[in-house]
Amino acid sequence: MSPQVIAVYPGSFDPVTNGHLDLIGRGAMIYDRLIVAVTHNTEKDPLFPLHERIEMLEAVTMDWKNVEVQEFDGLLVDYAHSKRARVILRGIRAVSDYEYELQMAMMNRKLAPQIETVFMLPAEAYSYVSSRLVKEIARHGGPIKDLVPALVEERLRAKVL
Ligand code: PNS
Repeated sequence: MSPQVIAVYPGSFDPVTNGHLDLIGRGAMIYDRLIVAVTHNTEKDPLFPLHERIEMLEAVTMDWKNVEVQEFDGLLVDYAHSKRARVILRGIRAVSDYEYELQMAMMNRKLAPQIETVFMLPAEAYSYVSSRLVKEIARHGGPIKDLVPALVEERLRAKVL
């Protein structure tokens, strides 16, 4: 029997968007186990504390039996290694994402050559969705219904009121 292929899908998820969910769905179809890994350390001064980001992710990924949500601290490759993950999954929306993603993937390869970064494309409808823009729209009272799950919309509205 071939071994299970475990993938880690890391990010800040502040908050999870429909674009993230689209990617999780794609990852869950391909990998035996997909660990959505939420970083402690974000330089971006998160709107949602770690436990809320995790709580929302757990709620919206509940139906995927091979998906789990965990927190991680420190180097991503160390975390991936500790979970026996062979793959780091990242989404690329547009060319503008590529430079940053390439740099991270190459650095992670330098640190841990046995772990492969795999890029996936979200559905076209989510190619312009980002947590940053969703937060900005919510702050100004704009519509975010098609961009995030209903639970996240509620939490965001409550947070920015
Ligand atoms: O969704 P984000 O915020 O773009 O995710 C970035 C993340 C969490 C994947 C990245 O910052 C990361 O891997 N952080 C952990 C620390 C680390 O390993 N840094 C070196 C990356 S080359």
